[in-house]
Order: sequence, then structure tokens, then C-alpha cells
Amino acid sequence: MPEVKINAQLLREFEKGLNPRFPERSQVPARVLDYGEISTVLEIGVESEKGLAYKRLPMFRNEEEARSYQALYDEYVNVLQNRIGLRVVPGDTIRLADRGRFVVYIVQEKLPREAIGHRAIHCLSPAEVTRLVLAVLRETGKVFDFNQQHKGELEIGFDGQISNWVIVGFDPAAPRLSEEIRLMYFDTSTPLLRKNGEEQLDPELFLRSAPSFLVWIIRLLFLQDVMTRYYDFRQVMVDLVANFYKEQRPDLIPGVVDTVNEFCAAGMQASGFKPITMEEVRAYYREDAWIWRTYLAFRKIDRSLHRLLGREYPYILPEKIQR
Ligand SMILES: Nc1ncnc2c1ncn2[C@@H]1O[C@H](COP(=O)(O)OP(=O)(O)O)[C@@H](O)[C@H]1O
Ligand SMILES: [Mg+2]
Repeated sequence: MPEVKINAQLLREFEKGLNPRFPERSQVPARVLDYGEISTVLEIGVESEKGLAYKRLPMFRNEEEARSYQALYDEYVNVLQNRIGLRVVPGDTIRLADRGRFVVYIVQEKLPREAIGHRAIHCLSPAEVTRLVLAVLRETGKVFDFNQQHKGELEIGFDGQISNWVIVGFDPAAPRLSEEIRLMYFDTSTPLLRKNGEEQLDPELFLRSAPSFLVWIIRLLFLQDVMTRYYDFRQVMVDLVANFYKEQRPDLIPGVVDTVNEFCAAGMQASGFKPITMEEVRAYYREDAWIWRTYLAFRKIDRSLHRLLGREYPYILPEKIQR
């Protein structure tokens, strides 16, 4: 895995003085770069340390759990890079133990904001957005081709949405795509990987960030869906398209639907691909947006309950999500 140099001392100090409610008021200064559905991405420290992006995963109950997550993470990135041939943003993980708490940080090179897919689509022409989407489809297609070739033996769960890619060499001052578009992938915090048909990532880890009063219903209603949808090429495609609603570019959706359908009709990962329809994308988006909005609202209730009970709430939550 390509290296980044992690300052463990800085992270230890950050952990000690962290204010998860207001990370920017922590003893070691921090700034939120962006919120994903799973992680809050931070910049930590002073000038010289600001070249890195930090994703904090505080849900581990013991060292062993944290260690096996790190091993799976390495394996996932290794398969993406060395067997599938994707470019992955240079990064590494580090495990910290503090007062019985086990936290893993994913540390990556910090990417320029404007070069990340969901920002870039706001300054590219529709024709260039089509080229960008095609580049994303080509990269994502490699993953699902691999899955098909290694079915039942080794498969990768993959989230190809536009906000998970960075355009290499993109210049925000002259926002053009070059002749050859080079993309790098960075959303590696949920290393879904199946060996001999068996999921290697413990889903309970990701349930822990859910309010305890909701865990049973999430387990019942959503877990199966979340753990399987990222292995299904068509569902990943619908998600990719629907994301243009979230990113406030519904005007681009008809074009993106056509691009995806044309690409998929020709590609091998999609033998028998049923074309995606606008209605389907709309319905999917409505449901998805509702789920995430509701989920965040419940997490905030959970945070208040923790406060009432005088218990520490370890997760950093967004104020609101744009949906
Ligand atoms: N290395 C990075 N540098 C700068 N910003 C990043 C980096 N990684 C992620 N981000 C920002 O944070 C968002 C969420 O990160 P991501 O890794 O996709 O997590 P999630 O699994 O929660 O979607 C991204 O869409 C991007 O805007
Ligand atoms: Mg993401």
C-alpha cells in the first residue's frame, strides 16, 4: 500500500482532547472537511500537518477487533489496487488505545475539494459530466468484472458513486477534463469483501454507531440490504445516478441515465442488464433520502440521551445532511 507518514503522537493528543460534539473546539485544532454517510472526514493539527485527511472509526470494543478491521482494510485496498488495477488514494491506518477505548484512523493524502467528483460536476459542462461518468463506469466496471470472474471465491463490495472519486490533476482555476481522465478512489472505510461467498466484514461494527434503541430494527430491515447491495452491479448503478439528486444536479439525470444504460448494454459485467428508468431512480432516491435523514435524526436523539445520562457519545455527527 502506498504510504503516508502518520503522526501518532498528534493523533493521541487529538483523541485525548477531542470534543466530538464540536470537533473544531478540540484541544488539538481540527476542521471537518466533509461528511459522508459513514464517516466524518477531518483535517487535524497545524499548518505542517494539514496535508492529510483523517477518518475516525471509534467503534471497536477491543484490540483484536480493531486489528482485524485493519487487516481486512489492507486486504481490500490491496485487491482494488493490485488485482483489479484501480488507483486508490495513498493512505494507511493506525490503531489507538486510550482508557479502554479503541479507535482506528484511516489517514489519506488530503485531496483538493474541487477535484472530488460531486464538486467537479458543478463546474463541468454537461458533455464533460458525461465523460466523467463514463470514466467512473469504466473503473467501476473493472471491479464488477473481477467479481464475475472470481464469483464464489473472492468478491468486492463497491460504492462507485460520484462523491467517492477524485480527478487526478484537476485544476479548479481551469476546470477542464484532460483528454485522458485519471480517477482515484478513496471511499475505503467499509471494506466489504466476500471470500468463498462469506462476508469478511463484521456488520455489527457498523451497527454500533446506530442508536441502541434502533439496532434491532436496522438489523431486521436494512442490514441484509446494505450488506448485499454493493455487490450488485445494477444497484450500484442506480445509486450512482440517484446521487445526482443529492448533489443538486437533477438536470443532469436524464443524460446520466442514458450514459449508464448505453455503457451497460455493451459491457460484460452487465450481461442481461435491465435498463435503468427515471421512475426507478426517483423512487430509490426518495426512499434513500428518507432513510438517511431519519437515521441522522435518531442518532441525534441518541446523542441527547447519552448527555442526559452523563455518558460520552463518541461519534461526530453532521448538523444536517443535504438530501
Ligand atoms: N482524502 C480525502 N481528502 C479530502 N476530502 C476527502 C478525503 N476522503 C474523503 N473526503 C471527503 O469526505 C467525503 C466522505 O468521505 P468517504 O471516504 O467517501 O466516506 P463515506 O464512506 O462516509 O462516504 C467525500 O465525499 C469527500 O468529500
Ligand atoms: Mg463516500
